[in-house]
Amino acid sequence: MPELTYFDIVFKPLDATDDVSSFHSTEQELDDFLREDAINNQTNRLSATFLAFWNDDLVGYFTLINDSIVAEAVHESDREPTWEYRKYPAIKIARMARHRDFDGYGIGTSMLLRIFIIVLHVSQFTGCRIITVDSKPGAAGWYQKKGFTLAQMKPREDTVPLYMDFHRFVSEEEQRVLTSLHDLKK
Ligand SMILES: CC(C)(COP(=O)(O)OP(=O)(O)OC[C@H]1O[C@@H](n2cnc3c(N)ncnc32)[C@H](O)[C@@H]1OP(=O)(O)O)[C@@H](O)C(=O)NCCC(=O)NCCS
Repeated sequence: MPELTYFDIVFKPLDATDDVSSFHSTEQELDDFLREDAINNQTNRLSATFLAFWNDDLVGYFTLINDSIVAEAVHESDREPTWEYRKYPAIKIARMARHRDFDGYGIGTSMLLRIFIIVLHVSQFTGCRIITVDSKPGAAGWYQKKGFTLAQMKPREDTVPLYMDFHRFVSEEEQRVLTSLHDLKK
């Protein structure tokens, strides 16, 4: 089975001409959302959905919405000392699913990278410091492996609230690149 990279996947915003009927993840609710609600929500500017294709196969999708997270839900070390407001601006991964036949291809990781690039772009126009997700319990470990942290709030019955301090993540990545460049000069 091929380990795909970000560059193997083509991402496109969902539109009314897309046939999403062939999409089956491991979660019926996520399939139903894509088939029944995603385009309507998008038309009404309630959410934005992106499809992921490998060759001509629809291998995954994700849906984003604006969000905010109360400061107390964010760990002390992630808080910005100069920020005096009650909440941090955020973007939420409202839905994300990979086709059930494409387990082990790295598609979720590529979708997350695409989300990071979108958030980086959006953050040039409006504040969005944090990425939030209310994960299905089965995917919480996956998000944690990718750098998300459990939010300091009461877990709901069926989802696990997680967040990533995206600004910190980007700053650390920038520092890593700068250090590598510095080492090259030695
Ligand atoms: C979550 C999801 C999108 C991840 O996509 P994916 O294509 O399986 O992810 P990737 O192939 O990029 O990542 C696989 C890696 O994560 C690891 N992994 C998978 N599930 C994991 C879990 N629950 N906990 C820890 N690690 C996990 C795999 O072992 C693999 O590790 P490796 O790269 O070291 O081999 C996908 O599993 C999915 O659609 N799940 C069902 C729907 C869902 O729960 N969505 C999230 C709700 S918002």
